[in-house]
Amino acid sequence: MSQLPKHTHPNLLVGVETGDDAAIYQLTDDVAIIQTVDFFPPIVDDPYMYGQIAVANSLSDVYAMGGKPILALNIVGFPVTLDKQILTDVLRGGYDKAGEANVVIAGGHTVDDPEPKYGLAVTGVIKPGDQITNSGAIPGDVLILTKPIGTGIITTAGKAKLAPESVINGAVRVMAELNDKAAEAMLEVGVHSCTDITGFGLIGHLNGMTNGSKVAARLRLSDVPVFDGVWDLLSQDTAPGGTHRNLKSALAFTRWDDSISEDAKLLMCDAQTSGGLLLSVAPDKVGAMMNALEARGVMGKNIGEIIESTEPYIEIVA
Ligand code: CO
Ligand code: CO
Ligand code: CO
Repeated sequence: MSQLPKHTHPNLLVGVETGDDAAIYQLTDDVAIIQTVDFFPPIVDDPYMYGQIAVANSLSDVYAMGGKPILALNIVGFPVTLDKQILTDVLRGGYDKAGEANVVIAGGHTVDDPEPKYGLAVTGVIKPGDQITNSGAIPGDVLILTKPIGTGIITTAGKAKLAPESVINGAVRVMAELNDKAAEAMLEVGVHSCTDITGFGLIGHLNGMTNGSKVAARLRLSDVPVFDGVWDLLSQDTAPGGTHRNLKSALAFTRWDDSISEDAKLLMCDAQTSGGLLLSVAPDKVGAMMNALEARGVMGKNIGEIIESTEPYIEIVA
């Protein structure tokens, strides 16, 4: 991507340069559109839940920017040889989840593909200037995370039949949850910066924020919420390839406390699907944010803070 020419346009309010996952294009004084696309192969056995998770994940980038998703198109890869009922169930899961979000799926495109894939191209709306990006975090801000981490480890273990059913179900339920209510709380209280936690893991997406905001961050491992069963699975070596790759890239910008184990490092870098929002909140608004999240039944965990630095880095303490 870095070798491609960067499109610029006076109406393009957010493009690729801030490392945000969605683009924002201003149409009028009052309206800008947000566009994002996401799709991936099945991560769970149940086609209906896979459809729900794929849609929750695809809409997440719009919520993370403070926008409202309104319209979407299906992107589907599916083997012609496979039972069509499976695809029907995937799409039904997607439609139901989009319906919950008040998003209209107005068609899409399917190609023959040996490995199934599903996701959405999403259009959202926002008032120009109201967008929340990676680049607004301020030293002193508190970092609040709205979903536990470990879904990459759990789903990979699930494919290898190593994860107990209850552990998989716990992660599936949370991955299928929209980030709409977390975003609603974020907009009500106000934040300096936000990103959603997906394929680059907690550390990778926080790195997007510290880079974009030209600050550093400190995370407390003991305060990071983790799905039940993940530590057990880690000891069985179930971290996916993406998580190992994330850790490799993280070494360049992360300062690990001596007490942090290799398993813990992998966990902090675990590639997430449909993860939570990471909010950078002014210290005097933390109480109000916790209340706003709780009122909506959304988890909010204070996991660290933004610190001043001329060079972006992430410090992990026990
Ligand atoms: Co995305
Ligand atoms: Co994102
Ligand atoms: Co077509």
